[in-house]
Amino acid sequence: MDKFRIQGGGPLEGQVRISGAKNAALPLLCASLLTEKSLVLENVPSLRDISTTAHLLAQMGVEVSGNAGLIELKASRVHDCVAPYDLVKTMRASILVLGPLVARFGEARVSLPGGCAIGSRPVDLHLKGLQLMGAKISIEHGDIHARAEKLKGARIFMDLVSVTGTENLMMAATLAQGVTVIENAAREPEVVDLAEALMKMGAHIEGAGTDVITIQGVDSLEGCRHAIMPDRIETGTFLVAVAATGGKVLLTHTKAGLLDAVIDKLKEAGAVLSLGSDTIEIVQDGRPKAVNIRTAPYPAFPTDMQAQFMAMNTVAQGSALITETIFENRFMHVQELRRLGARIDIEGNTAMVHGCAQLQGATLMATDLRASASLLMAALVASGESIIERIYHIDRGYEDIEHKFAGLGAKIERIPG
Ligand code: UD1
Repeated sequence: MDKFRIQGGGPLEGQVRISGAKNAALPLLCASLLTEKSLVLENVPSLRDISTTAHLLAQMGVEVSGNAGLIELKASRVHDCVAPYDLVKTMRASILVLGPLVARFGEARVSLPGGCAIGSRPVDLHLKGLQLMGAKISIEHGDIHARAEKLKGARIFMDLVSVTGTENLMMAATLAQGVTVIENAAREPEVVDLAEALMKMGAHIEGAGTDVITIQGVDSLEGCRHAIMPDRIETGTFLVAVAATGGKVLLTHTKAGLLDAVIDKLKEAGAVLSLGSDTIEIVQDGRPKAVNIRTAPYPAFPTDMQAQFMAMNTVAQGSALITETIFENRFMHVQELRRLGARIDIEGNTAMVHGCAQLQGATLMATDLRASASLLMAALVASGESIIERIYHIDRGYEDIEHKFAGLGAKIERIPG
């Protein structure tokens, strides 16, 4: 298993290009199942989760081709509506094939995702929504088996705001008979990106980006060409890294408007930000100030940025509270940050972080995707050498992260293992 060796200490300086968003690309790849025509996606990040999804779709019979950020998918000869356990267990977002498969082919068998490092993460809302649309659902030998001759439009109230739940049901509804209304829908920008692509494919969708999405089903969808939106979490991760280490960095190919809550917190921490049409420049002089964080669905502060702000707070001036409201077990990075000398107390879903002047390098273990990013940031700011093990977690969601940080002057290298 590969590791990172990091020599911490210096500020970050330079320019970095932000990749396309993993969480927008994954549902869009699955949307290819909705049409026999070709779907061309641009700005696709090169990541393990993307190749896993491409592999899953190819196993079903989807023709997948392309390189260098462009992927073409054609689902004209799908022969297997199955997402097996060995793929679903490595990537929970595989559940996103469920809605499109039932809607177009009338049947799907998708391994039921188990719990994961950050919480139990059930998919009951995906299933309840499909049942309301007339699908018959049973759990057989660990698989979700869903059948429906033709899905029917329905009014679906989501008990909790679920991003992939909203995406799955929105995709299914594009080919359902009649009108579907999703209430308490997720407002995340990735839902909007998906809706925009589906509309280019001929879907009738209103309200994406609000908490009520209305979809008028159509008989079939066309192909389209769509450029994936910038990754707001990768953007935020680089911004917080600069806030923690100090320095001056220009981020390009991004969109500040996707990160209002994150940018507000960075300003509160003392960073100076200049926002362009597709750039963000950040300057941080000296130690940041500790900031309180409370995660919640978009447009509030994203759970996927919580661990990185925790890492920043460990070296900040003052103490701050971090409250995680989305996932029940998303403080796995705390134990590892403590190994660097961080002072963090946890009570339930709240962590009190007391900033200290200097962390010290140590050997750390990555536990999940965003937690790994926080460890990398903390290692960049700690004195001396750190080793981060199990970085396959980070490769799931950050494109070329070591070269991007090295381009900003960080001393980081991959040790193949
Ligand atoms: C997506 C993102 C992930 C992010 C999360 C929250 C993708 C591929 N992943 O994950 O990076 O951290 O949104 O912003 O886009 N829940 C249920 N029942 C369900 C579905 C969800 O109880 O059927 C709960 C979850 O356990 C969690 C909360 O709802 O507590 C939100 O989860 P959800 O928005 O569904 O997360 P994902 O879509 O899996």
